[in-house]
Amino acid sequence: MALRTIRIQGDPVLEKKCREITEMTPKLQTLIEDMLDTMYDAMGVGLAAPQVGILKRVVVIDVGEGPIVMINPEIIETSGEQTGDEGCLSLPGKAGCVTRPNYVKARFLGEDMQEYEIEGEELLARAICHELDHLDGHMYTEKVEGPLHEVKYEED
Ligand code: NI
Repeated sequence: MALRTIRIQGDPVLEKKCREITEMTPKLQTLIEDMLDTMYDAMGVGLAAPQVGILKRVVVIDVGEGPIVMINPEIIETSGEQTGDEGCLSLPGKAGCVTRPNYVKARFLGEDMQEYEIEGEELLARAICHELDHLDGHMYTEKVEGPLHEVKYEED
């Protein structure tokens, strides 16, 4: 298990557009494993490569239904609307209200570099939108409605 340092808002790497991935390599496989470890360690539901300082189009998501790895993801369909709290591991301890589609269909490459589609509603739809925004240098704070508020986590 290898944890990577999560970049915090203000780090210029979070404002850059990420590059498409053309092939699976041992280095990319390690990055994906480290991103999953880092996401679970931070108790997040998603993490995008720029958040660990790598400008490549790959995200990991787990909304409680198992890990999803998406390479070169793109949203191909959306519908509906949901408004609710959203947070980001690059802005720890804060959350803000963001409106997102309630349904998202996305196309991506899996770790086998084959093409897949995924449909998500509610939290999964929100996570897909949030993580894909990171790949184009965007944070949820650009879309937030009203002020950010502090989030307090309960201790185990
Ligand atoms: Ni984020």
